[in-house]
Amino acid sequence: MRFRNTMIREVSSVSRFPRLLMLVSIFMICALSCLAIRDARGQCSELTRVDSAHALPSGIEIQSGPGILRVLALRSDVLRFTMSDTGQLPTEGSWAVLESARLARTPVTPFSNPGAVGFDTGMLKVSVARSTMAITVTDASGHVLMQDASPVHFYKSDAEGDTGFMVWKKMPHDEHYFGLGGKAAPLDHRGWQFTMWNTDHPGWFRGTDPLYKDVPYFMAFRAGKAYGLLLDNTWRSTFDFGKERRNEFSFGAEGGPLRYYFFYGPTPKQVEEEYAWLTGTMPLPPKWSLGYQQSRWSYGTEAEVRSIADHLRKDRIPADVIYMDIDYQVHNRPFTVDQQKFPDFPALVQDLAKKKIHLVMITDLHIAYLPGQNYMPFITGEEGNHFLHNPNGSLFVGDVWPGPAVFPDFTQQSTRQWWGTLYKQFYSYGVGGFWNDMNEPSVFNTPSKTIPLDVVGQIKGPGFATRMATQREIHNIMGIENSRATFDGLLALKPNQRPFVLTRSSFAGGQRYAATWTGDNSSSWSQLRLSTPMLENLGLSGFYMAGDDIGGFAGSPQMDLLTKWMEVGAFNPIDRDHTEKGSNPQEPWVGGPQQEAIRRHYIDTRYRLLPYFYTEVEEASRTGIPVMRPLFLDFPDATADKHPLDDDVPNEFLFGPDLLIAPARYPDEVQNYEVTFPPEPWYDFWTGKEVAQSPAAGPGEDALQTTIVTPALDVLPVFAKGGSVIPMQALVQSTEQAPDGPLELRVYPGPNCHGSLYDDDGVSLSYERGDYLRVAYTCESSPRQITLRISAQQGSYPAWWKKIQVSIFGWHPEQVQAELDGKPIAGAKYDPEQASVEVEIPQNANGETLTLRTE
Ligand code: GLC
Repeated sequence: MRFRNTMIREVSSVSRFPRLLMLVSIFMICALSCLAIRDARGQCSELTRVDSAHALPSGIEIQSGPGILRVLALRSDVLRFTMSDTGQLPTEGSWAVLESARLARTPVTPFSNPGAVGFDTGMLKVSVARSTMAITVTDASGHVLMQDASPVHFYKSDAEGDTGFMVWKKMPHDEHYFGLGGKAAPLDHRGWQFTMWNTDHPGWFRGTDPLYKDVPYFMAFRAGKAYGLLLDNTWRSTFDFGKERRNEFSFGAEGGPLRYYFFYGPTPKQVEEEYAWLTGTMPLPPKWSLGYQQSRWSYGTEAEVRSIADHLRKDRIPADVIYMDIDYQVHNRPFTVDQQKFPDFPALVQDLAKKKIHLVMITDLHIAYLPGQNYMPFITGEEGNHFLHNPNGSLFVGDVWPGPAVFPDFTQQSTRQWWGTLYKQFYSYGVGGFWNDMNEPSVFNTPSKTIPLDVVGQIKGPGFATRMATQREIHNIMGIENSRATFDGLLALKPNQRPFVLTRSSFAGGQRYAATWTGDNSSSWSQLRLSTPMLENLGLSGFYMAGDDIGGFAGSPQMDLLTKWMEVGAFNPIDRDHTEKGSNPQEPWVGGPQQEAIRRHYIDTRYRLLPYFYTEVEEASRTGIPVMRPLFLDFPDATADKHPLDDDVPNEFLFGPDLLIAPARYPDEVQNYEVTFPPEPWYDFWTGKEVAQSPAAGPGEDALQTTIVTPALDVLPVFAKGGSVIPMQALVQSTEQAPDGPLELRVYPGPNCHGSLYDDDGVSLSYERGDYLRVAYTCESSPRQITLRISAQQGSYPAWWKKIQVSIFGWHPEQVQAELDGKPIAGAKYDPEQASVEVEIPQNANGETLTLRTE
């Protein structure tokens, strides 16, 4: 008896103790986190319990002391969390999120029990613990997707009384993080910490943070499943993925709304589509922007620009664009042309157009401060009150390239409209596009190298109550709003022409207005290595049209480095060679004919792949799925434990769904290296030979295959996925030149074999009215027969080709008979040199079926 009693006492004291311990530790964690923040930054408050909850048709609103949490379901897979410690929730619009998404709602089923309150969307369940306010999001089968680690807390972040906040979430040991814009970091951000504050940092290197573009959106990927989180806040913010606290990730901002969107895949591609649903996609760019782009700071005279164009054409380096950097201007003053150096600018534009080369001109965001000097951008800007002011009401003036300059107040709609009109003359000459630079904004003579925090602008325009705002709030959106003003302005000037804007700085949603590049990198092997993850993360962050300064901006590359960079660059969405003032020439011909021949071959390949590339760009413009992308996006289940395959092979990337590009992990590598393939059959794109078959994996095993590559200066390994149909064309020197020859269809047999082709006039918006061409391909293969089905053409745009050259790889028949729509046709044969069966068929807009048989 006594014995039993003791047991019971012991058991009950053991079970009481952890509960007590738990409560004490929750209290301690809350108190400590608040103390930590208070010590560093001032006062602190936290939301730590549910006082009352109120079900809404699409969510829930919870009171916690003076604080409020509102969670809304915009769709069954997209949630918005808004919190405040003041009793009032921010209701204003957003610079990042589209109104159509912000206003969307879906009905939910509320629940309430003694431990928690929340709701269910059918796909996601949100529950808020009554005793702690901890938020948990689970999927329909109850798996925890995201969970608070400590109470959210608010603190006074500066002397002006702004309220900052921090949010901590539990970080599972196998979760990985991607996105955040143009970060000079590995693809996977786990273990890293970042600040979001757009910054001009010339000569940056791995780890430099922050840089030019900050996108407060990341994708979390765990065991093959993904969700996205967008912090809709423009203030200086931070994201920490387990650097500060090993098992937690956190995000917070120094002011502004605590408003974040959670969106669940489960596939990473669905997350990308949801991010595009929230923030938009980049509209279809002009086709010429997919061509090779030649730039330097600066081609400084008309003669020099002409000679570059002539050289490109003479050496048969395909090219579509030449950039004009700041030296075309009078004393670097935006929207001027130095007549001494460019005596007949309109004629230059027209002559280049005859060569099918577009000019892209730089127009930095600042305006030279030139009172009384007849400089129209300053005069009209001042008249319209379009510039930022110091707190005392005087104009803020800071030094940039032209010397003293003023800065447009881009958060005013009227300022954006005025800015757009500045392009009228250049655009009327036929200039192709514009380059918005220095728009972090960069200022040379302030301690922060940007506009001081207390400089004031006005927020005025749709979606926002009119009010004054300092740089604390609007610094991070100067770049996006600058590029928006340019994009909208160009569209207003030529309503049926696709604008092309290249911006250095931007923010979440900036893809709606501009392509981008990674800023002032340098000519080193390590920077080339860093390029792939940066461009992949930019792609995941919405910027699917992104590139870097090929060859490096600062310094001059060794010739082999330039060659290797041009090889990889041919498979980057934007392929632009650019360098700083004073560096050695960096054009493709520099270093002699052997180097040039290699570089030309890769640029040629880009142009030969244009039908495929343009099709992928068009798809990205609808879906938000980036063209250049990490492997885990298409193969989330590739590894046995479903960690992202890219963590093992950060050098490899996909260019569209069907091409795997595998530069060496260290681009100057001289030893053999291994290429790892996701589980599909793969073919060597250059030789046509099969290098990996579709493997079968047992439980708990991965189905990866590898091949060994011997590095050579002239070889960038490229592989085509089995199960794809890749459209190509004859070589052209400009994307605007009609290919002389048939459409080429490369068929790589494999599971779920398909492909597609999109085309249109490449420049206008007529495609929105049905003037496009879309064709779908499918193929089926067995050892004795291959069938290729070409769908009827959709859309009214005529095909440029009359014939289709079909190449089928991975099939080596001695004899082959071909039938087109059931009727025998001649000419099909195996070509051992190409490792493919070749047959030519006529183009038929109504669709056709090609069948090949062997005995
Ligand atoms: C900035 C740009 C660079 C440009 C230079 C001169 O450094 O990032 O690309 O060449 O300004 O305009």
